[in-house]
Amino acid sequence: MLSWEVIEEIKKTALNELENITSERDWVELKAKYLGKKGKLQDLLKMLPTVSQEERKSLGSQVNEVKDLLENLFSDKLQEIKLSLKKQKIFEKKVDITLPSKRYSRTGRVHPLNRVTSEILDIFSSLGFEVEEGPEIEEDYYNFEALNIPKEHPARDMQDTFYIDESRLLRTHTSPVQIRVMEKRQPPLMVVCPGKVYRRDSDVTHSPMFHQIEGFMVDKEVSFSHLKGVLTEFLQAFFGKEKNVRFRPSYFPFTEPSAEVDIECVVCEGKGCRVCKGSGWLEVLGCGMIHPYLFSVVGYDKSVYSGFAFGLGVERLTMLKYAIDDIRLFYEGNVSFLEQL
Ligand code: PHE
Repeated sequence: MLSWEVIEEIKKTALNELENITSERDWVELKAKYLGKKGKLQDLLKMLPTVSQEERKSLGSQVNEVKDLLENLFSDKLQEIKLSLKKQKIFEKKVDITLPSKRYSRTGRVHPLNRVTSEILDIFSSLGFEVEEGPEIEEDYYNFEALNIPKEHPARDMQDTFYIDESRLLRTHTSPVQIRVMEKRQPPLMVVCPGKVYRRDSDVTHSPMFHQIEGFMVDKEVSFSHLKGVLTEFLQAFFGKEKNVRFRPSYFPFTEPSAEVDIECVVCEGKGCRVCKGSGWLEVLGCGMIHPYLFSVVGYDKSVYSGFAFGLGVERLTMLKYAIDDIRLFYEGNVSFLEQL
């Protein structure tokens, strides 16, 4: 029988049930249960004709009030459910700012030749050498003449030169920097000069452009033992303390006496292999006592001063240290190669 109590009872349970749902699915079901076409409120309305005329009006409007109330509360509830779902999603997706970031594998880095150059310069500066540089476009005078290599000297054949005109060329070695530094400064001098040099030469171990580091020391009473001491110290710092070093007599027009320096083969440790052509030794640089002719050229008193000089190839040293067999790899910009070193 439809009555005020029955309507109130349905309202009470509806509110109760609405209070307890948390998902959209439950909400849809519950809404159908009370407000749907076959829902409880519809049932109540259907029962109206069974009550007396007087009661019908007030009970009818009571049912409609409850219906309006529930409709409002249901739509509020839906907003509430959606909001809490959103909050939950945000919480789940929360960024943990303490996690390490993604690694970018293809970032730039220092080229192996530049790395080895700084490594070499670091060793020499720890021994007290300063760094000086000279021009790549050089005068014939500094590249040859002042270094005791006159015009018709056969030593000019040792290096194939890129000439720009009669008197200018691309320097074939860093030795001209010796003259340039000595011209403008007075001893004592301990200087290293890194830079590009150029020769008409190209194969797996030669490139028309490559890098050298020149070094020299001038002072009173500089002897061959200073030369041996400095270069042995450098080579063992670069290749490893345990490596043996040997000095072989050689010839350069700008040093006298001259020597070539070998280091125990880095591949076979002196036993003899393909890399050292069975000798157990690898030639790594040229050196000698600065020829007195150079001192007369720059105006130093050769009876007071003496000095030593050396020149090394950065590519060659890098190739030996890292077992690289093709010099062209340095200039191709192949990221996979560059990343390995
Ligand atoms: N300038 C010589 C060269 O290229 C190397 C060298 C430098 C030798 C200094 C002796 C002294 O090849």
